[in-house]
Amino acid sequence: MNDDEFAGRAVSVTGAAHGIGRAAALAFAARGARVALSDIDAPGLEDAARAAAAAGAAAVLARPTDIADAAQVARWFAAIDAAFGRLDCAVNNAGIGEPAAASFEEQTTENFDRVVGVNVRGTWLCMREEIRRMKAQGAGAIVNLASAVAHVASPSPIYTLTKHAILGLTRSAAATHAALGIRVNAMCPGAIDTDLTRGFFQRGPQVRERLLAAHPIGRMGTAEEIAGGIVWLCSKDAAFMTGASLLMDGGYTAV
Ligand SMILES: NC(=O)c1ccc[n+]([C@@H]2O[C@H](COP(=O)([O-])OP(=O)(O)OC[C@H]3O[C@@H](n4cnc5c(N)ncnc54)[C@H](O)[C@@H]3O)[C@@H](O)[C@H]2O)c1
Repeated sequence: MNDDEFAGRAVSVTGAAHGIGRAAALAFAARGARVALSDIDAPGLEDAARAAAAAGAAAVLARPTDIADAAQVARWFAAIDAAFGRLDCAVNNAGIGEPAAASFEEQTTENFDRVVGVNVRGTWLCMREEIRRMKAQGAGAIVNLASAVAHVASPSPIYTLTKHAILGLTRSAAATHAALGIRVNAMCPGAIDTDLTRGFFQRGPQVRERLLAAHPIGRMGTAEEIAGGIVWLCSKDAAFMTGASLLMDGGYTAV
């Protein structure tokens, strides 16, 4: 991969304040990209924007945005248009887990609507804006954050359904836009050491042990490892890859 290929490129990242999104934003920034960062956590976003500038971004745009809110998403992309005038790569990363429930049948309607609202509706709202712009340009690369549990079952039914849905969105958008120069792929991480997994671990020490035991590699992944895969999916080296899901899961789905 030629790192120079991202110099001056306009790249958007949702959920950029923490975890995988922040690591992806910094990875593109370090390669001289112009980065547009959004998140619901305004102070965290400001901190990420400062870090992106320090890492070498050619320009940084940061705007608090809730991806589940169509009007906010539209305003964020209008701000990208005004600041950068184009959008080369988009990383749809923002996502949430579901609150622990003792059993499938105890899940609440409110949880369902919240998790599906952010993970599925939010990803779709962003993709719609991205595809409009990339279609007009005749080029673009989109990476959606799915999960290893987009391929297998997990004890979190609502989260799992949202990640399966993101694969469906990815494949559908890829199939219908490949001839227009737009590539759409899904990144499917196993357990990565971020606030999201730390939230799961609050359910008890056995959750962490069970999760690690399910990863043959014997550890959690890092946000930086996943960011490396995201940058690669956007790079020319992945030019023949679209509609694919890249598993970076420490062997989780291999066993
Ligand atoms: N950490 C893992 O083990 C893991 C594994 C597989 C997939 N993923 C996926 O990767 C993505 C990032 O996860 P992470 O582990 O970095 O999580 P994280 O909780 O560390 O970071 C998520 C970021 O998204 C932001 N966010 C939440 N709701 C938002 C909304 N409505 N609008 C805008 N921003 C919002 C949060 O403020 C936070 O900064 C998620 O889609 C997650 O499902 C994570």
